[in-house]
Amino acid sequence: MAKFNRYLITAALPYANGPVHIGHLAGCYLPADIYVRYLRAKKADVKFVCGTDEHGVPITIKAMKEGVSPQDVVDKYHKIIGDSFAAMGISFDIFARTSDPVHHKTSQDFFLKMYNDGLFEEKESEQYFDPEKEMFLADRYIVGTCPNCGNDKAYGDQCERCGRTLSPDELINPHSALSNAPLVKKKTKHWYMPLQNYEPWLKEYIIDGHKEWKNNVYGQCKSWLDSGLQSRAMTRDSNWGIKVPLPDAEGKVLYVWFDAPIGYISATKQLTENWADYWCKDDTKLVHFIGKDNIVFHCIIFPAMLKAHGDFVVPDNVPANEFLNIEGEKVSTSRNWAVWVNDYIQDFPDQQDVLRYVLCATAPETKDNDFTWKDFQDRNNSELVAVFGNFVNRAMVLMHKLCGGKVPALHPEFMNDGDKDILKEFGLAKEKIENSIETYRFREALSEVIEFARKGNQYLQKNEPWILASVLEKLKAGEQHPKYPQYEEKDIAFLQARIDICLHISLQMTANLAIFSHPFLPFTAKRICHMLKVVDRMLEWDNAGSDKLLSVGYTLRPPELLFKQVENEQVTAQIEKLHAGLKQAMDAAAANAPAVEEAPVAPPKPEIQYDDFAKLDLRVGTILQAEKVAKADKLLKLLVDIGTEQRTVVSGIAMHFNPEDIVGKQVTLVANLAPRKMRGIESQGMILMAEDNGKLIFVNPAEAVKPGSGVS
Ligand code: MF3
Ligand code: ZN
Repeated sequence: MAKFNRYLITAALPYANGPVHIGHLAGCYLPADIYVRYLRAKKADVKFVCGTDEHGVPITIKAMKEGVSPQDVVDKYHKIIGDSFAAMGISFDIFARTSDPVHHKTSQDFFLKMYNDGLFEEKESEQYFDPEKEMFLADRYIVGTCPNCGNDKAYGDQCERCGRTLSPDELINPHSALSNAPLVKKKTKHWYMPLQNYEPWLKEYIIDGHKEWKNNVYGQCKSWLDSGLQSRAMTRDSNWGIKVPLPDAEGKVLYVWFDAPIGYISATKQLTENWADYWCKDDTKLVHFIGKDNIVFHCIIFPAMLKAHGDFVVPDNVPANEFLNIEGEKVSTSRNWAVWVNDYIQDFPDQQDVLRYVLCATAPETKDNDFTWKDFQDRNNSELVAVFGNFVNRAMVLMHKLCGGKVPALHPEFMNDGDKDILKEFGLAKEKIENSIETYRFREALSEVIEFARKGNQYLQKNEPWILASVLEKLKAGEQHPKYPQYEEKDIAFLQARIDICLHISLQMTANLAIFSHPFLPFTAKRICHMLKVVDRMLEWDNAGSDKLLSVGYTLRPPELLFKQVENEQVTAQIEKLHAGLKQAMDAAAANAPAVEEAPVAPPKPEIQYDDFAKLDLRVGTILQAEKVAKADKLLKLLVDIGTEQRTVVSGIAMHFNPEDIVGKQVTLVANLAPRKMRGIESQGMILMAEDNGKLIFVNPAEAVKPGSGVS
């Protein structure tokens, strides 16, 4: 790492169109914060910048939904998002906004420099126009089917299911998300960046130059570069955004993905007058923490912009995470399937570190991962409480009981191999944690921290200072301990020394745990410092691995519990809250289906013959019983009467219906589908459902019919 003298760390600017959820935290803000706290502890010259992304269609869509102005939206959410990050200990040096005048000027200057250098192509093109709303449609307002994965709710700029970046022309069956109208094309002029011109440079920069990037990131870049880049418009028709600073550009703004990453530069400008050191000197290490849906913008487009403009460093790494699912389901803000950070803070006050811990331990570093409340409870109870908290608490309690509340002496003459071995672990742990953090493997680093605490527990267990103390007590009273007759009066000094050594080492371990855990669990680290009566400066990384952090004879404070159990009721309440949120969102959507989210009709499937259809044995049935399937959030077990017999059917509809509400309903059953086992239950058929924008509705006859009636 020697070639870098300063660090500029960025975390993706969240759109100011809603609160943040734990997927955001796990995706980039928490890893960025861990990295930055570590660098600061190393006394590196580091700046950590972020802010809200306040332009673009996500903002105008939200404004339309809430019936307020875009400005109202961004003001509201800038505050909410900033508060959530602050409460979680995400330690930005600045949390700026792209609506700031400094940012507007920086972006316009950036654009003008490229314009004056002749780096844009000016092109008239036919753009999609919504004839009903009489406006050009931004890519986000165009919905259609993804050519890559078949998602029928893909946007004109990106498919959120497979992550592929799209242009509206690639969509199958594109139409307006505003009016649902089929689109017409109309001429409009825009400024394009010919990304293909930067291909050779990008290949050299990434493919040859950054083989160390994470596989998911490197792989995406490679497939982009392999399939060839094209010119991309850097301006848009809109009245919300940064005005294109040219005379003939009425009604045109900078593309949000042009201005937003420049937000990192303008935030740095607002933070320090030495901003140019961080952006223009080669010995700066620039690292962008992002989620996987932002890879192409940070690895290809923004570096190409920086290169085109000139004078800027380009990212040294872009450690993007994959997505975090919740209880086995993809996070969906529109369906309100998410754990909101501001809710968590209310429900678990003073337990920020528990969430930080769990999110880091399950971070989707290499693949999508799942957050469950059960896992949250397990990790808290069996790792934070039972290992980390338990070790620190035992060391502190025993020291108060057996050593008079002071750091005991080390007595090198009485040290044994076990002591020497554990002392070696100090430096080893430091090295492992360091290596893992520096290579962006934060899960691994965190597990080393817990491992160190685990070793502390084992060390205490092996030495049993509480037993030595009871032997000592007897001997001092002139008696022998019945269970340990091998100790005699002459051993008094030895026994006291053994107790001292064990607790001396355990306390030095505790101090190290504070340093090791600090990037991950900053609130906990500070609590340990308080107990140990040391100033926060002890947390500097230079001190890590030292076995001389606490001086002999120093008085320490009484212990406080660092973590508490998460109870079953809390887990149940959180799971219920998730489902209640989902139901509320679904009900609201049903009551006044917001036009913006109107889903397109699925594209037609290939033609079939009558015989293909005739193979299906479709029958009307009546639901007799419905119950949830244990440990399967999505499944209901149904008993369906089809006249001649009763069928057990396992159906993935539990997120959409209460079991008690559907008993008695008629449904259409595919009665000759091969049986299939789900969660150990044999499902004997499949129920037909209509899907309307995520909402499921039973397909049944317009009037009640006799169970078993055929459908043809
Ligand atoms: N607002 C974007 C998103 O949430 C991220 C912007 S990152 C930046 O996906 F670099 F452009 F700022
Ligand atoms: Zn897709």
